[in-house]
Amino acid sequence: MNIVILNGSPRPSGNTAAMVSAYREGAESAGHNVTVFDVCRMRIAGCLACEHCHTKGRRACVQKDDMQQVYPALDEADMLVLASPVYYHGLSGQLKCAIDRIYAPGYPRRLRKAALLLSSGSKAVYDGALYTYRHSFLGWLHLEDMGVFTAAGDENKSPELLDRLREAGAALTDPNDHNMPRLVIRADDLEVRAPLNQTQAARDLMNRLPLTVSGFDSGMDYCCELKEGVFDETEKQQGWVDGDVSVADGWFAILHGGQEQSQGYRVMVVAHLDEEANERIRALPPQVTFELSLEEPYVSNKASIQDEARS
Ligand SMILES: Cc1cc2nc3c(=O)[nH]c(=O)nc-3n(C[C@H](O)[C@H](O)[C@H](O)COP(=O)(O)O)c2cc1C
Repeated sequence: MNIVILNGSPRPSGNTAAMVSAYREGAESAGHNVTVFDVCRMRIAGCLACEHCHTKGRRACVQKDDMQQVYPALDEADMLVLASPVYYHGLSGQLKCAIDRIYAPGYPRRLRKAALLLSSGSKAVYDGALYTYRHSFLGWLHLEDMGVFTAAGDENKSPELLDRLREAGAALTDPNDHNMPRLVIRADDLEVRAPLNQTQAARDLMNRLPLTVSGFDSGMDYCCELKEGVFDETEKQQGWVDGDVSVADGWFAILHGGQEQSQGYRVMVVAHLDEEANERIRALPPQVTFELSLEEPYVSNKASIQDEARS
């Protein structure tokens, strides 16, 4: 998978850099592509809160500084690693500037996993950084936690720490390495595909396809009635990310917008449309009938198994 590491330490041979190198080494040994951005050596300004990105800018940041190098890598990333020295009980200011600039594109797209590497002088100084990581990246962006690694005082650059980081990097697996097929969504001339996740609801939906559902655009989603299926209440998420597809409680919905206002809802996400596919869904008329099916190779495999069983 593609991993982006944002290193927020200004010291090229410092403690955070050592953690980053070990994690990178492990991840690369497992075949992952790792891109490290030393944000302190880049010209990355803080967010201007001008809202250009969420209005005329269509999710592009108005500031054309070195963050423009980071966005394309993040667009293709499956995992984001934040690495920072602890400064006054939080992340370094330079890293915080880069994080705030994530506001423009919003992410995820392919982004599914996250990890946090922290170096400090003292122990037990991580609450500030942890709060940001847990609430903004795991909670708000719905990323899966691949671990928090800390090193205080003498632990920094210790062989034990660096071995642990190498092992953790080497143990990472690609979130797309599972046998779930993609959901094909058709409406008139439009056809988009969204990889199904591994939830019980997604598996149940697979077994119910093909399906035809009709619904209206609420401005945030196309909401279509769909007979209740099987799902695990504990797999529901708080809020959604634009492009999520959800099934539960008698509804099939394509959540094409409204991510910022979604925290008050619990949704059963079964698939996710990438940015381009979601834009095409947004352009549909207010009332739509969707034909839902599984992508072809999967269907033909299933058909041939059924044929074999019949003969
Ligand atoms: C501006 C600044 C603020 C710091 N604040 C803290 C702090 O609040 N708690 C702490 O334990 N260490 C603090 N430190 C120490 C660093 O977190 C620690 O030395 C770390 O290992 C540096 O990582 P680096 O080698 O990657 O720069 C601070 C250092 C600096 C320069």
